[in-house]
Amino acid sequence: MAASRRNRQLRTKQVWFIESRGSIPRLSRVTRTNEKDLTAVPANSFNNFTEYGIGIGLRVPHYRHILAQKPVVDWFEIISENFMVDGGRPLEVLDSILEQYRVVQHGVAMYFGSADRLSREHLKKLKRLVKRTKTPWLSDHLCWGSVDGRYTHDLLPMPYTFGAAKATADNIREARDFLEVPICVENVSSYAEFHASEMTEWEFLSEVVERADCGILLDVNNIYVSSQNHSFDPYDYLNNVPHDRVGQIHIAGHSKFEKYILDTHDHPVLDPVWKMYAHAVKLVGRTATLLEWDDSIPSFEEVHHEALKANQFIEKLENAAA
Ligand SMILES: [Fe+2]
Repeated sequence: MAASRRNRQLRTKQVWFIESRGSIPRLSRVTRTNEKDLTAVPANSFNNFTEYGIGIGLRVPHYRHILAQKPVVDWFEIISENFMVDGGRPLEVLDSILEQYRVVQHGVAMYFGSADRLSREHLKKLKRLVKRTKTPWLSDHLCWGSVDGRYTHDLLPMPYTFGAAKATADNIREARDFLEVPICVENVSSYAEFHASEMTEWEFLSEVVERADCGILLDVNNIYVSSQNHSFDPYDYLNNVPHDRVGQIHIAGHSKFEKYILDTHDHPVLDPVWKMYAHAVKLVGRTATLLEWDDSIPSFEEVHHEALKANQFIEKLENAAA
């Protein structure tokens, strides 16, 4: 087929997107038939084809630089729990950031997979922050971390069972309905597995998000770390999750040890993870991408420069499609 004909085809498919009409943003599914220029890599359908670009995590060592220099950054991701306070310096900084930048909330303490019901107190504080930031979506992890109100403050791996998928999806729905914001769940890195598991991790993730009718924060570094620790093909994972539900991608650095890989977030992104990132964007489309760098944090410029490397992989896809 001639390139010009190949690049202008009628494409018909069902896609998910965030519907913002009315007071509560909701996921909606439409059948979309349109003539597209296939040489472009379109933005992903979950975010209604909105191009969010490349973000970095807002971290304390960079506050002074960002507030003084006002660098051009597509968006910042904040750790919600760091700003669920009544006042003081954290909220002053956040408000200054919000005047200039889009902020997306990422949480570490919802524990969707815990058998406990979600903490109402936590949800109320989170909702106050959601109203403040106007985050377009909110993410937290596909993990558990509490028993009978006692919290581990760790992101513990799930048993991949149908029962756990249903309970987790119920919690996600409850959070989404209370917070009135779309939710993306993030796959975690793991170092242990359960004999009780009835499916692979990617089948479990898919089961949860379909039941919850929510989005995915696809952490490609976490997939790579877990694939090396548990001996599976990370591309099987990427190829077999519902791509139209991916609303955000995380990239990060990790550390290799003799018998395992640790998700340390203290390095630049390694080549195998960049390759996975390129494959993920090919499957999903341009997607809000966030570099996580949480330990041994270098200068703002170095972190931002590393994050912006993601654009090189998108450009390669564009060129390959041309
Ligand atoms: Fe992550």
